[in-house]
Amino acid sequence: MPTWNSVHYRVWSAASSSGEEAYTLAMILAEHAGSKNWEILGTDISTQILDRARSGHYAIEKADNIPKNYLTKYCLKGTGQQQGTFIVCPELRQKVQFIHANLKDNLGQLGSFDVIFLRNVLIYFDMKTKQQVVNQLLRQLKPNGYFIVGHSESLNGVVDNLKVIVPSVYQKR
Ligand SMILES: C[S@@+](CC[C@H](N)C(=O)[O-])C[C@H]1O[C@@H](n2cnc3c(N)ncnc32)[C@H](O)[C@@H]1O
Repeated sequence: MPTWNSVHYRVWSAASSSGEEAYTLAMILAEHAGSKNWEILGTDISTQILDRARSGHYAIEKADNIPKNYLTKYCLKGTGQQQGTFIVCPELRQKVQFIHANLKDNLGQLGSFDVIFLRNVLIYFDMKTKQQVVNQLLRQLKPNGYFIVGHSESLNGVVDNLKVIVPSVYQKR
């Protein structure tokens, strides 16, 4: 695994849950980043869910939304006792790291990112906590970096210093 300083392009799946978002991003970057060096960090408060994320092992039904060519290139279908499951291929799993983190803590030690996904977690926080969490994450977003929330979420009234690109996609000015 490269040291974080040697990585050019970094994406953070904050509140990564069982890792689907992080691995989806890894497939997209593997496909489109060319020779650019990249890595993905997933964080969550639940250690149990992080173990599931690290395994990269899912029920086959989860594959329904993965494009066929990505499935062939980046996933391995389970056989025998693993029938009915698939696992993300090791080459991709090694580019995705999962770390335990509470978004309410200062997470500056994780470094800075080109893109931060914070999807479907703000709903758990009151307005003051939302503002603290988002402002803290924004300090870790590189200039012109993208900040992405869930489809049904908005940062209206939470922060006002971001440029709206399309609904739920923001850019640091
Ligand atoms: C509804 S899931 C969203 C997962 C994923 N981002 C998505 O959109 O599919 C919310 C996740 O936020 C995590 N979470 C809740 N509070 C958190 C906190 N304070 N710090 C970090 N993660 C938290 C939960 O453990 C859970 O995995």
